[in-house]
Amino acid sequence: MNKICFFDTKPYDKVYFDTFKEKFDIEIDYFESKLNVDTAVMANGYEAVVAFVNDTIDTKTIDILYKGGVRIIAMRCAGYNNIDFKAAYDRIHVVRVPAYSPYAVAEHAMALLLTLNRKIHRAYNRTKEHNFSLVGLTGFDLHGKTMGVVGTGKIGRIFIDICKGFGMEVIAYDPYPAKDTDIQYVSFEELCKRSDIISLHCPLTKDTHHLIQKDALTIMKPGVVIINTSRGALINSEDLLNAIKEEKVGGAGLDVYEEETEFFYEDLSYSIMRDDILSGLISMPNVIVTSHQAFLTKEALSNIAEVTLQNLKDYFDGNGLENEICYQCTKQNHCDKNPHNRCF
Ligand code: NAI
Repeated sequence: MNKICFFDTKPYDKVYFDTFKEKFDIEIDYFESKLNVDTAVMANGYEAVVAFVNDTIDTKTIDILYKGGVRIIAMRCAGYNNIDFKAAYDRIHVVRVPAYSPYAVAEHAMALLLTLNRKIHRAYNRTKEHNFSLVGLTGFDLHGKTMGVVGTGKIGRIFIDICKGFGMEVIAYDPYPAKDTDIQYVSFEELCKRSDIISLHCPLTKDTHHLIQKDALTIMKPGVVIINTSRGALINSEDLLNAIKEEKVGGAGLDVYEEETEFFYEDLSYSIMRDDILSGLISMPNVIVTSHQAFLTKEALSNIAEVTLQNLKDYFDGNGLENEICYQCTKQNHCDKNPHNRCF
């Protein structure tokens, strides 16, 4: 039986990975620590590690993992912006779960929008206190409003369908437009100018880092609502906070935050919050922050566990790594490697 180690374990991960481990003949040692330069040594003697979105897999971490015998990192997520692929290339394979439930994320984006717009979060707290006043709870009809979707991949396209179900007009920006759809593509600038709501569904790359910052916010419609379920650093959080204070932005639903690694997934309710921007955002009545939970459905957790363990079994069996991603793949952006081969 092959033995692997698993970083940043949460109880809900364990339930689903334990369900599948026998099927793939893999033994799992669960660690609660995040994977980073200080904890990488815990993987000494293991050939495979499982990691997640807020692990810091930089050059130093990769050097320690490689020295300790690690030859594959299985990401139990789709995004991979937290890995130094250049450092891993030719030494440690990296595999991921390209899609586990695009519905989970798209539905969470809409949940954030509906909650924000109809002030459900505020109404919930009021009625708990027997305060049945409606003052300050006015929303707007989504029907007929313009939704701007940035990134029309798996999640973006499902989100577009959901929006159309609400009778919204949808426009989209994507430098690689889908050819097989009737999506109405516009430039990023036009999307900013025309949208009543903007929802981000693109990956975090050099090009998309701080895509939403002061200049973009300035040209947006007054009262625009921004939803981000992709990656925190797509938005310059300080600029967003300022735009909310100036009442330029009418609401923000954020499942991700650019400095989330320090906070998300942990119970810090007894600690002093030292991030003034996060604190400022959370304190706004028209901002909802969820801690990177858009993926968290039973279906997604089950798919994540099954595909991650299948990826590892393929590695141990010497097969091709269909879900491998490497420095070359990321450089070329749309690498069409043969799934029957390994990247190196
Ligand atoms: P995907 O790869 O299917 O689609 C991404 C789309 O973004 C592609 O169409 C691509 O052409 C487009 N894109 C690339 N560069 C762009 C740019 N500069 N501007 C606009 N669009 C650009 O990815 P998928 O599965 O739809 O996921 C989207 C993102 O959602 C992921 O990158 C990840 O960051 C995030 N995510 C968040 C989760 C959560 O729990 N909050 C869970 C899973 C994914």
